[in-house]
Amino acid sequence: MMKKHNLLLASTVAILPLVPSCEEKQPSGQPEEPKAAEAPTPAQENEYLQRGDKASKALMASLGSKLKAAISRVSNKPRNPKNQPGSLDQEVLTAWEKQLASGEAKPADVVRYKEDQTAVFYRPIMTQGICLKCHGDPSTFSEGLATKLKKAYPGDKATGYRAGQLRGAFRVEFSGE
Ligand code: HEC
Repeated sequence: MMKKHNLLLASTVAILPLVPSCEEKQPSGQPEEPKAAEAPTPAQENEYLQRGDKASKALMASLGSKLKAAISRVSNKPRNPKNQPGSLDQEVLTAWEKQLASGEAKPADVVRYKEDQTAVFYRPIMTQGICLKCHGDPSTFSEGLATKLKKAYPGDKATGYRAGQLRGAFRVEFSGE
């Protein structure tokens, strides 16, 4: 078990930097994140929306199949209903919320085991100022963004955040032996 655990951690640490997400800086050549003070143009908004959606999903799926790992994000206030947490995910998110409430700045990564002993790696995703453009107070959203979000995610729960809050978790489950 210990050996498998170490292998899991090593592979996870190796792949996490490759996992794209809407919160990570794009490699050069890609459109840049808007500066905190600048409103994104409609073209940029489209780009970010796609980045948060299709592009990252496709890449996560292809990385995942290579490594026999299922990579996803979960949140207890999901924008996309597919990112709804399972019961183990919820336990981790709730434990982190408690740690944050007791004054911790950022909870540590954890590995938890499912009933069938499959290991699942979790890393917290915290909000920063830049995230509030799409996850903050909806009354501050540009009209274009608000319309697109409403259309693509009618059940969106992922708004109303402030900086420094727990937005969710990266979740990596290894099914390969
Ligand atoms: C330009 C808009 C935009 C910005 C800025 C943005 N997000 Fe998102 N975020 C989205 C969209 C759209 C989704 C839904 C993606 C999907 O369909 O899986 C999303 C989904 C997520 C999810 C998956 C859980 C869920 O709610 O479905 C997490 C976690 C997340 N964002 C964290 C962040 C963090 C952290 C930041 C800042 C560092 C950030 N986002 C900035 C648009 C954005």
